[in-house]
Amino acid sequence: MNPKIRLYKDLEELSQAAAELFVEQAAQSIAARENFLVALNGGSTPNRLFQLLATEFRQKVDWMNVHVFWGDERCVPPDDSDSSYGQARETLLRHVPIPDANVHRVKGELGPDEASKDYSLTLKEFASPGLAWPPFDLIYLGMGEDGHTASLFPGSPLDVSEPTLPVIAHYQDRPANRVTLTPVVFNSAHMVVFMATGEKKAQTLSEVLSGRYNPELYPAQRIEPKEGRLLWLVDEDAASRLPGKLLSKFCEG
Ligand code: 6PG
Repeated sequence: MNPKIRLYKDLEELSQAAAELFVEQAAQSIAARENFLVALNGGSTPNRLFQLLATEFRQKVDWMNVHVFWGDERCVPPDDSDSSYGQARETLLRHVPIPDANVHRVKGELGPDEASKDYSLTLKEFASPGLAWPPFDLIYLGMGEDGHTASLFPGSPLDVSEPTLPVIAHYQDRPANRVTLTPVVFNSAHMVVFMATGEKKAQTLSEVLSGRYNPELYPAQRIEPKEGRLLWLVDEDAASRLPGKLLSKFCEG
């Protein structure tokens, strides 16, 4: 893996940088293709990013041309506190002038199979003729303490050619019905940005970035954009077990 690693003091600094990337990539994509296709992540890490985009960065984005998707979703109704769409709506989307028609949520309330099929149809609408999904301009991902990303969990199938998958996984002692995009979609993006913070992720981050390639055990290692850029935004706590030589080789600042 040859990702770029960017090191920040804490979640606040990291979120500022993630918001700046959103602004830059949105401007570039809209200038080049008239729209900006971005996939958000769930979990707690992106909350501050969403707040920043809704406030101090709000005026810097041409929201009319932004299309929002999700890298994965939990199979709950949109108003449920576990819904990643609901989380982004409350913290970000209802505060910015994005048209409703530009928000492409996974319909978790349909259950994993139906929601996965429905989401794959949504992706197809944005794909070039003959293709099943578009290359996303920017995808944000988180990483769990076990190395999962989106809803690609350890031990899940590696050789997947569909763009979306229904997932039934046990995570943190509870069954989790979900829908996830798959590596074929993540790896065709123009840019993928991981965000990882906190000491609890330090050991796994070190395994993922500097350990043996073991994508079955560490799904985050499955993310290797073919032509796009891969950036890891990490805070000092999460980076505390990364080997110094990795930091000096791949760290951008
Ligand atoms: C989710 C995400 C999941 C998340 C990681 C990290 O909806 O839970 O898709 O992959 O990004 O579990 O979560 P935290 O940001 O809460 O650590």
